Amino acid sequence: MSGAKGVQRAGWAWNSDLSYAAIGEQQVSDTVYRLPRVERFGDRSVDGQRYTSEDHLAAEIERVFKRAWIVVAQSSAVAKPGHVAVLKEEGVDVIVLRDDKGQLQAFQNRCMHRGSRLVHKSGPYKRFECDYHGWRYGLDGALESAPDADGFGGVDVCRIHLETIRVTELAGQIWVCLDRTQPELEQQLSGIADELSPYQLEDMEPIQERVFSVPVNWKSMLENAFDYYHVGKVHKRTVHAHVTESPEIALYGDHIRQNIHIAPYRWRELIDRRCSRGGPYTARQHSRLFKYTLFPNTMINVLPYHMTVMRFWPDGVGGTRLHYSFCQRRGARGVEWLRARGTWLASRIILAEDVRMLARCQSQMDASVVPQHLLHDFEAASAHFHDVLGKWMTQIK
Ligand code: FES
Ligand SMILES: [Fe+2]
Repeated sequence: MSGAKGVQRAGWAWNSDLSYAAIGEQQVSDTVYRLPRVERFGDRSVDGQRYTSEDHLAAEIERVFKRAWIVVAQSSAVAKPGHVAVLKEEGVDVIVLRDDKGQLQAFQNRCMHRGSRLVHKSGPYKRFECDYHGWRYGLDGALESAPDADGFGGVDVCRIHLETIRVTELAGQIWVCLDRTQPELEQQLSGIADELSPYQLEDMEPIQERVFSVPVNWKSMLENAFDYYHVGKVHKRTVHAHVTESPEIALYGDHIRQNIHIAPYRWRELIDRRCSRGGPYTARQHSRLFKYTLFPNTMINVLPYHMTVMRFWPDGVGGTRLHYSFCQRRGARGVEWLRARGTWLASRIILAEDVRMLARCQSQMDASVVPQHLLHDFEAASAHFHDVLGKWMTQIK
């Protein structure tokens, strides 16, 4: 246990006043976190409706997903000119690409004639052609041609352009933001970008990318990924035996960092030091798994030789589409290659344990039966997540 001071919270109650200034946004030392003692059950709980209400989900899409920075794809998906990645999830349908000049571009995935969907899958493109009436756009988003273009009553259709959106590249990911008023991503991440820079995450490439459909609310899936209360039960035959201490938590504004020492054995340390390209790393970055939960829906888990990226997208109120990607450093060989593959295998086993449990016991949650979810200290990250969610849900656009 370390970091006796750590991040202290003045209060914890999203049902009442949210006092964010008191959270100590820039204070990022780690601490084993304890939620405050409370008199009443309801002061330490999450409203069950948050997991079951259609209205709540609709508001999340409008007020959170359509306003926050979100990951569309890994940088490797648009590494070369003409490479295009598409993301279509609830409330979001966007194209990102690397243009001929090597610049990133991002557009709403809609033809500007009658609003048809323009690009249906990721891959290399020279231009985009709409399936409906055949308007053609260049990779810069400008309309290049339209059949019988003189039939629009004198309107100069060649001035038409796809709807552009904000795009940036950070931590080996391509991000977009549909809201023009939000701060830049790097500023919004409150120092996380600097902290991630030794890992050189743009050098990571996927071993496996998959989308899993799980029949539980997206927040249940996300919270499970940072909840340590279930580890002793669900993972008792796997990772639990190799974790000897409680996770530490640090808050970065809206985001959460946890770190945990998994398999703290001498042999592991020796192997890891041989695998650690990039850097320079701190001793803790060498040995500990750092888990960054980047609000609203992205989790990046890193050690010097691998990265897991999980993005949790709502799929109706009772479903999640989990975009899972496990990456190793480009050019990994020998021990480093084996180390990454071994961790990937372990990560898939642990994920399967989680998905099996969640699908079995959390689907069709009923808020009328369990109106409040009571949180344990080991679910403290959930408390912060719901505070932040509450803040975004009540902010006036
Ligand atoms: S809707 Fe795209 S060309 Fe008509
Ligand atoms: Fe788990």
